[in-house]
Amino acid sequence: MLDILLTVLVGIWVFVPALLPNSAAVVFGGGTPMDFGKSMGGERILGDGKTWRGFFGGGLSGVAVGLVMIGVSMLAGSEDGWGFGPLPGALSVLFCLSFGSLLGDILGSFLKRRFGVERGGKAPILDQYDFVIGAFLLAMAFRWDWVMATYVDGYGWLSLIALLVLVPLLHRAVNIIGYRSGLKDEPW
Ligand code: CTP
Ligand code: MG
Repeated sequence: MLDILLTVLVGIWVFVPALLPNSAAVVFGGGTPMDFGKSMGGERILGDGKTWRGFFGGGLSGVAVGLVMIGVSMLAGSEDGWGFGPLPGALSVLFCLSFGSLLGDILGSFLKRRFGVERGGKAPILDQYDFVIGAFLLAMAFRWDWVMATYVDGYGWLSLIALLVLVPLLHRAVNIIGYRSGLKDEPW
């Protein structure tokens, strides 16, 4: 029982570098939009909500937090980086999760614009899961072994389910906080 709980907790813990970049992008965002203001079929390619500063500021924040998490695990004497795996492999996991989540976020905005949803407009499911899909796709492309070991093998699939349930709840909570504190224009 305890080992199952631990597996689930590790799967959620290692996903923090994928969860953080979106919030960090709100803080760092602004300046030149990633689509340089260009349109496609009468709509912006991505819109003003996707900026270069947000992308790199958010992505590097995710990597930085992951490095701190690995550092803490090493200080505690862990050999597997508490789920990230030993260095240097853990670095590729961090980059895939944090930049993958922002690439998924970009893909989400791209699709929203194609569907005619304005910047900041609601797109259920896409808003909550675009970054999760991006993080998993990039991690699967470069670190298939790690994704299998963490989210499929043994009780890993249980932590994947826990993550998929937790993400929309977290997303909602964080966005309400962002909205109330004046960082975000909409509570979603
Ligand atoms: N942000 C950014 N650059 C990114 C991602 C996010 O600057 N690559 C900032 C923007 O200020 C954005 C805010 O974070 O408005 C919230 O992100 P998000 O909800 O993804 O963007 P929206 O403005 O809602 O736009 P969209 O409809 O395209 O999702
Ligand atoms: Mg939004």
